[in-house]
Amino acid sequence: MSKTIVIGACGQIGTELVLALRKRKGNDAVYAADLKDECPTVLSQGPYVQLDILNSENVRQFIIENEIKEVYLLAALLSATAEKNPDFAWRLNMEGLFTILDLAKEQHIDKIFWPSSIAVFGPTTPRDNTPQFTVMEPSTVYGISKQAGERWCEYYFNKFGVDVRSIRYPGLISYTSLPGGGTTDYAVDIFYQAKLKNQYTCFLSENTALPMMFMEDAIRATIELMEAPKEAIKIRSAYNLAGISFTPKELAAAIQNIQPEFEISYAPDFRQNIADSWPKSIDDSYATANWGWKEQFGLTEMVKIMLEKVDVNLL
Ligand code: NAD
Ligand code: SER
Repeated sequence: MSKTIVIGACGQIGTELVLALRKRKGNDAVYAADLKDECPTVLSQGPYVQLDILNSENVRQFIIENEIKEVYLLAALLSATAEKNPDFAWRLNMEGLFTILDLAKEQHIDKIFWPSSIAVFGPTTPRDNTPQFTVMEPSTVYGISKQAGERWCEYYFNKFGVDVRSIRYPGLISYTSLPGGGTTDYAVDIFYQAKLKNQYTCFLSENTALPMMFMEDAIRATIELMEAPKEAIKIRSAYNLAGISFTPKELAAAIQNIQPEFEISYAPDFRQNIADSWPKSIDDSYATANWGWKEQFGLTEMVKIMLEKVDVNLL
């Protein structure tokens, strides 16, 4: 079994992706790598390495010396955090991608997964059932970096045959680790506050619909995309992917079905502008047609699992 590395392994997606990949490939075949110097307990069943994706020489050396053939590059600043530090966000979100794309161009790596986002769309994009191919004028530094990244992935595939695959993840909802500074994070925070205080003050307004997805679906999509035959992957920028679209009000109502005393109030902040520039729902028919994508989790099931599983000790 050839070796795999997940860079940005301690984050919201990385934690669950490493566990899922280790289940398929074996613990020793999947390196978890992150800036953090200590390996979280949940990832301690397999190898962990402290790596800074911005230290290109170290990353190159580690991947070449350990004969790692598959890379999942997750390290990035997300939308809300990136707006507070745009220069650094641009650097982090772009430089790491070039390091990995170049390793593949030089044939040290066979396959790359690099995530894009619904943030590639902008205020001029049709917001309902947003098509795969449409106007894309992102208005956040995060969205601009993801849009540029998509173009570079496609370019490296077309020019150098680099097998890079990508998904435009919607907002992801999970309980194993906390989210890292996105505009969709309210849809995770709400469950912790529902458990702690039975009350939540949402930083988006009540009718702000956004595309979301339960993490189990997102991890399955990632693995299905990476395991699909090369010829099936017709899009080398990034695939649209749809899960569940809902507003804060609809999410609160679904929580109230289980916890009738739960209360929500609204205090929109700078993240409202970001959310207003993003799609409300996504057309993912290319992912379905090309590699058979179909979501499994709906709102009711997701809410039930989240209320059962979130552990307020993570806060
Ligand atoms: P996260 O913020 O939870 O995790 C990112 C991880 O990267 C952290 O553990 C962090 O320590 C690590 N990291 C940061 N700088 C690093 C560096 N210089 N070198 C090595 N590691 C570093 O993010 P996430 O939610 O897991 O997202 C992962 C990827 O998926 C990102 O590219 C993000 O843009 C994309 N994405 C996420 C979502 C979502 O809802 N979570 C949606 C769309 C796209
Ligand atoms: N969940 C991410 C964010 O809000 C979308 O890419 O930044």
